[in-house]
Amino acid sequence: MPRVATRRRYLMVRPTYFDVEYSINPWMDPSKPTSTELAVAQWEWLHDQFVRLGHTVELLEPRAGLPDMVFAANGATVVDGRVLVARFRHLQRRAESAGYLDWFRERGGWEVRQARWINEGEGDYLVAGNRVLAGSGFRSDPRAHAEAERFLGLPVVGLTLVDPRYYHLDTAMAVLDAETIMYYPYAFSAESRRILRRLYPDAITATGADAAAFGLNAVSDGRHVVLPEAATGLIDALRERGYEPIGADMSELLKAGGSVKCCTLELRAG
Ligand code: ARG
Repeated sequence: MPRVATRRRYLMVRPTYFDVEYSINPWMDPSKPTSTELAVAQWEWLHDQFVRLGHTVELLEPRAGLPDMVFAANGATVVDGRVLVARFRHLQRRAESAGYLDWFRERGGWEVRQARWINEGEGDYLVAGNRVLAGSGFRSDPRAHAEAERFLGLPVVGLTLVDPRYYHLDTAMAVLDAETIMYYPYAFSAESRRILRRLYPDAITATGADAAAFGLNAVSDGRHVVLPEAATGLIDALRERGYEPIGADMSELLKAGGSVKCCTLELRAG
């Protein structure tokens, strides 16, 4: 079956101030050296891929003292011109929200509000066709799910994450198109696994090795799927299903526990 790409609009934040200064997930080890220069080069490659694929990429200015700000997916969830700006769990990231509130308000044309409950944006909220798959367990508060459902106007399916390495939904699952997802079953509670099997009997499931390579932290336009190049099993599975996988080297950003999808917030206009 031929897969059809649709043009997307993304928001990204250059990793000018990228570093691993604290540890709020098991991937972050502040004693390991990092290279901001390499992070910028990997990020620029990703940015240029999106442009090459015909997508529009908007930029939000990074702010000094916020080394995780490159992970734009966490800043908000945007559906139909409605922008639910994040409220971060950890103190170290709280100030990022103001950057998103300002960006959307300055541009106008968006209905903007900040989440009342802890809500880490597209890190935990993945729009899949006419529903939103929402993770909790480590970051977003399950009470935020009802708030998101009301504000975004789409039904929210709550899923519970149980493995601390997969602390955000977008580290354990990617939406490929309105009907198809790929995910790592063992990142989810038994009950959530049942829900996923029922909703997505044809999903691609990842091996532990591909999940650990952050292969699920992927961005799909319906045809092209940009994902970490080390996730070779997923790359083969995607090709078999008619998608066009594009391997990315995001090794430097992985030191902070992020990859392709974490760097990419999708802007869905009204
Ligand atoms: N260091 C960041 C954190 O732990 C990484 C965020 C990755 N972003 C994502 N969408 N999963 O918050």
